[in-house]
Amino acid sequence: ENPVNPPAALLGFTAIPTSESDDIIVPEGYSYQVLIPWGTPIAGSFPSFSINNSGDDQAMQIGMHHDGMHFFPIEGEEPFEGSSEDGLLVLNHEYVEPRYMHASHLGQSLSSGAVLVNAGVRATDEVLKEMNAHGISIVRVRKGVNNEWSVQPDSLNRRITALTPMEIQGPVRGSSFVRTLYSPNGTMTRGTLNNCAHGVTPWNTYMFSEENWAGYFRNGGDNPREHSRYGVNSSPTGTGRYAWELAESGEDQYIRFDASIKGADATADYRNEPNCFGWMCEVDPFDPTSVPKKRTALGRFAHEGVVFAPAVEGKPVVCYSGDDSTFQFIYKFVSAENYNRNTASGALLDTGTLYVARFNADGSGEWLPLVYGQNGLTNANGFTSQADVLVNTRLAATTVGATPMDRPEWGAVDPNNGDVYFTLTNNSARTEDQATGANPRAVNRHGHIIRWAEADGEHASNSFEWDIFLFAGDGGESGQDNLTGRDLNGDVLGEEAYMSSPDGLWIDKDSRVWIQTDIGEGSQNNGVFEIFGNNQMFAANPETGEIRRFLTGPIGQEITGVITTPDQRTMFINVQHPGATATPAEWAAGETRSTWPDHMPSLYPPRSATVVIWKDDGGVIGT
Ligand code: FEO
Ligand code: CA
Ligand code: CA
Ligand code: CA
Repeated sequence: ENPVNPPAALLGFTAIPTSESDDIIVPEGYSYQVLIPWGTPIAGSFPSFSINNSGDDQAMQIGMHHDGMHFFPIEGEEPFEGSSEDGLLVLNHEYVEPRYMHASHLGQSLSSGAVLVNAGVRATDEVLKEMNAHGISIVRVRKGVNNEWSVQPDSLNRRITALTPMEIQGPVRGSSFVRTLYSPNGTMTRGTLNNCAHGVTPWNTYMFSEENWAGYFRNGGDNPREHSRYGVNSSPTGTGRYAWELAESGEDQYIRFDASIKGADATADYRNEPNCFGWMCEVDPFDPTSVPKKRTALGRFAHEGVVFAPAVEGKPVVCYSGDDSTFQFIYKFVSAENYNRNTASGALLDTGTLYVARFNADGSGEWLPLVYGQNGLTNANGFTSQADVLVNTRLAATTVGATPMDRPEWGAVDPNNGDVYFTLTNNSARTEDQATGANPRAVNRHGHIIRWAEADGEHASNSFEWDIFLFAGDGGESGQDNLTGRDLNGDVLGEEAYMSSPDGLWIDKDSRVWIQTDIGEGSQNNGVFEIFGNNQMFAANPETGEIRRFLTGPIGQEITGVITTPDQRTMFINVQHPGATATPAEWAAGETRSTWPDHMPSLYPPRSATVVIWKDDGGVIGT
């Protein structure tokens, strides 16, 4: 028995109501602190935050738009499994909002990258700042008096950005798909983009996903399937998301986002740059000189994140990953080599089998291997190698007959029984004809959470049994079944559990299911979404289906990223893109827009930040 965690009610707090206020609200008996908002200095010369920070400053500061996150304890004494007062916080920065990061663009509406272009170019240092605000942050944090956490200057503190050299590993390494001017032998690439959720390997390294990377590129109409199935901008005149390719300096590190620039062959141009993105990446946060790796055996798509099944000595390593786009798929990777605690490393992720899920309407499911030469992944169907199958993972999954899902976001594995949960955030494009089985709602505005148990309790199994844990929605106010929320018993959700668009997901060691919401910026507090208020976080009991609202966030944001210290007495969550709903008119008027967390609008734009939560009586979070 663990003396740190005496048995406690799974959900012991009083649910809070929905909120439209520009603040964090937590249950009675809990307190919180804001930590590491965008621009917090962590390394180098520790430049303090200012809207006028340079691109170089940004590389020494916390990035923008915090997302997936883990707390890596500095080693401590048993039974704590590492310190609960000192550790590395490692977090993703999904994207940036130029209108909140450059004095020249403050409050501006960003409908496309073209808005940022002036006289045909983008100011080079603005581009550098935006690229350095992407990626991940590694920062040592420590608990002081009164539960207050602070940043520790430390040689492990590090930024990985859209410019950091990274190695390409796995079956795609060296293939013709990833040979570029930068790396003619196809073994290296520069940087990472749109890092959404994360993963933690059984060997204690951090994985970061590349989700909506396609939008950062343009190809001018030369649109091979490696680009087209992922949505690279193929307009002859269009720009990338932020028009980085138009940086005034014309340096290679910027213009590479224009994949239409052609040389004699791929090693003389940028045609393959988009193929170097869409992967799961790995870094050892305890080795500040390690070169991050792109693990291509896990497939290429809009990776939301990755979640590992608990590793078992002598059995394969298994991890799950969702492709967050409408009608895309859920994948699982099974390593070829078995796990050995003493030798396990990222190399286990380079050889193995990638599977994609088929959910049958009768509650059964199968894992379909994506292996060159099998299941139609043949030359007759245009696949020429395993590297080709992996670069074109979406096409391969369609070919083998995988089940198109309602936008798979985060996954989680219940550490106590092995059940796997995935959020399916929403899919309003699903028609009545397509509404069946594991995605049974037409016009699924509010999303659902699916879960499954692998056959024989083995994560490497080829089949599974699934059910639906939650239909997100309201309390039936609309009278429409596709908008009504239901728990696992089929009971209509009460006010304490109303939610829409589940996204972030994590199951703690007591099996509390933590659910975070991401109602899109265009929908928040409007129409059928009004009843939910600002985005928020819930805790659920996986046996009874009970759900309680634990936290509500400020205006315009989503709540994403959640982890506790090993003793479960401190929780970290992220607030991403506060103020994202503000229109230029609202910005100008200074009304109804977020000023979180600083609430000093003349000095600070709204800033993404981490929030540290504790229970005033020192108890386990959630009890
Ligand atoms: Fe980046 Fe699918 O959320
Ligand atoms: Ca997400
Ligand atoms: Ca979002
Ligand atoms: Ca989302």
